[in-house]
Amino acid sequence: MEKSLPTTEQAPQAPPKHHVRRTVSTVLLVALTLYLLAPLLGDSASRDVPHHATKKASCVQPPPLFPATTDEKLSRMYDFVGTEAFKNATIIRHSGAVKIDTSSFDDMGPVGEDKRWDTRYAFHDYLAETFPRLHKGLKLEKVNTFGLLYTWKGSDESLKPLVLMSHQDVVPVPASTVDAWTHPPFSGHYDGRFIWGRGSSDCKNQLVAEMETVELLLEADYKPKRTVVLSFGFDEEISGREGAGSLATFLIDRYGKDGVAAIVDEGAGFSEQWGQVFALPGVAEKGYTDVHITVRYPGGHSSIPTDHTSIGILSELISKIEAVQYRTYLADESPMLGLMQCGADHAPDFPKTLKKLLGKRSSSAKTCKAKPDLLALEAAKMGRPVKYLMQTSQAVDVIEGGVKVNALPERTTVTVNHRINIGDAPEMVWHHLTALAKPIAEKYNLTLHAFDGTKEAPLSISLSPSDTTLKVAPVTPTELDVISPYSILAGTTRAVYGEEIVVAPGMMTGNTDTRYYWPITKHIFRFGPGYDPTTDAGLGNIHTVDEKVSVANHIGMVKWFTLFVQNMDEAALE
Ligand SMILES: *[C@@H]1O[C@H](CO)[C@@H](O)[C@H](O)[C@H]1NC(C)=O
Ligand SMILES: *[C@@H]1O[C@H](CO)[C@@H](O)[C@H](O)[C@H]1NC(C)=O
Ligand SMILES: [Zn+2]
Repeated sequence: MEKSLPTTEQAPQAPPKHHVRRTVSTVLLVALTLYLLAPLLGDSASRDVPHHATKKASCVQPPPLFPATTDEKLSRMYDFVGTEAFKNATIIRHSGAVKIDTSSFDDMGPVGEDKRWDTRYAFHDYLAETFPRLHKGLKLEKVNTFGLLYTWKGSDESLKPLVLMSHQDVVPVPASTVDAWTHPPFSGHYDGRFIWGRGSSDCKNQLVAEMETVELLLEADYKPKRTVVLSFGFDEEISGREGAGSLATFLIDRYGKDGVAAIVDEGAGFSEQWGQVFALPGVAEKGYTDVHITVRYPGGHSSIPTDHTSIGILSELISKIEAVQYRTYLADESPMLGLMQCGADHAPDFPKTLKKLLGKRSSSAKTCKAKPDLLALEAAKMGRPVKYLMQTSQAVDVIEGGVKVNALPERTTVTVNHRINIGDAPEMVWHHLTALAKPIAEKYNLTLHAFDGTKEAPLSISLSPSDTTLKVAPVTPTELDVISPYSILAGTTRAVYGEEIVVAPGMMTGNTDTRYYWPITKHIFRFGPGYDPTTDAGLGNIHTVDEKVSVANHIGMVKWFTLFVQNMDEAALE
C-alpha cells in the first residue's frame, strides 16, 4: 500500500475547466457503513514541521478533475443539476422510488414462487416511466427475472466498460416500529431539506442518481467511447445471491476476467477526522466466517450425573476462545496505512505519536509478524470501531444446550462470529479454533471433528464453518501518482466538492453486492459520493427508523456521477 503511494507531486490530469462552488466544512459526517473513526486521541498535534523534513508527503492529492473535452450542452447540463428546476424534479423522482416497498425478507422463497419478490415489477415500471430517455437509448436485459442490466454501448470496443451498481431492495420495516417514524416509512416525504423513508439513503438514492446521470448525459447528446453498464441487484439485504450473484455471473461471462475498468457500488462516504474532512471510498472489506461448535456427550439422569456435561465441556472451550484475542496489526496491503498517511499529511489534529510511528514504519522494511505492531496498537486506542479495522474479531453470539432440569444435556452448540482482518484468512481462524479444541477433546476422550465435513457425531467435539464464509476482499489499488481509476475518482471528488476534501482509502467492515464481482475488476469502489457539509445526517439512519437523505447530498451525488462517467471515458486507461 505505502509503496504504491506517490512520491512526486505529479498531477494526473488537466486543470479545472470551469468553476464549482467549494464547500468548507468542519461538520462530522457519518459514513454509510459502520466505518467510524470515532473518538480522537487526546494528543492533538498542531501543524508542526514534518517528521522527515526531506521526505515529500506521500498522500499527494490530485487537483480537481473536470472533463477536458466539454461542449456547451454538457456544461449547460452540469449547471442545470445545480438549479432549482432539477432539484424539484429529482426530489419527485427519488421520492417516487422510495414509495415502492421493495423489501427483502430473510425467509424469501425462490424467485417466481415467493410472491414477495413481485414488488420489483412495480419498481421496474416506475423506472421505465421516470427515465424514458435511458430506456429508449440503452439496452435493458433482465437477469434472473428482476436483475436490471442496462448497457450504454461505447464507440470504442477496445475500452473496458465502467460498471455502476446499486440495489433495488430495502430492509423491511417491522410493523412494531412504523409508529416510531416521524414520516411514514414509504411516504417519500420531502420536508424542505430531507427525503424520508426506507431506501432513501440505502440506497435508492444511488440508483436514482446513476439513472439521472445517464438521462442527463443522453439529453446533452453525450456519446461515450467507453461502455457504461448499470447493474442493479434486487436482494442485497439478504446476501445478494439471486440478484448480484446472477448479474455478476452474466457480466463475467460477457466481459471476462478483469474485463471491466472499474465498479462503483454503495459504500462509505465522507467523514471528518483529525480536523479534516475525508472522502473514504471503500477499497477493502473484511472477510467473514461463523463457526458452529457442537459437543455431544452422554446424557442420563441428573441425580447421578457425570462430573462434566456437554455444557460444561463447551464452556471450557469458550473460556479458552475468549482468553486469546487475535492480533492487532496492519498488513502491508491494509488501506488503513494509506488513510493514516493521508491524515499525517493533511489533517491538522493528526496525533504526533501516530505520525512518529508511521514515519518509522514507512522507513523500515516489511513488518515482522512476530513483533507487536506498535503503530496498529497505538491507533487501536481510538476505540473498538478503529481497532477492528486492524484485527480479526471474534464474538461468541449464540448458545444452545439442555432441554430439561433433570436430564443431562446430550448436545450443546455455540456459534462464534468472526470478521477477518486484511492479511488473515478464514482458514487461519479455523486452525486456531482447532488447536484450542484439541486438548479439550483429548481430556474428555472425545473425537475431534474439526472442519472435516462432519457437523456432529456422538461423543465428539465438532467444528464447522457457515456457508456465509467469505475471504477478505482483494484490496483495490490506490495509486495517485499514475492515472488509475482511484486517481480519477479522487480528482472527480475534488472537482465536485473542492480541494478542501482529502480523498483517502476507506475500509468496510460489512460487505456489499460487489462480493460477487471480484474476478471482473481489481478496481472496486464502495462509495456513496453524495456529501452535504451542512448536515451530519446526509446518509442518516440506514436500517432503522427515520431513514432519510439530504437533497443537497443527493444532488452532489448526481453531479459526481456525471463528471465521473466523463472522466473515466477520457482517462488513458484500458
Ligand atoms: C420548486 O418547487 C418549489 C416548491 O414547490 C416552488 O416554490 C418553486 O417555484 C419550484 N421551482 C421551480 C424552478 O420549478
Ligand atoms: C475412550 O473412548 C474409547 C471409545 O470411544 C474407549 O474405548 C476408551 O475406553 C475410552 N477411554 C477412557 C479413558 O475413557
Ligand atoms: Zn445498501
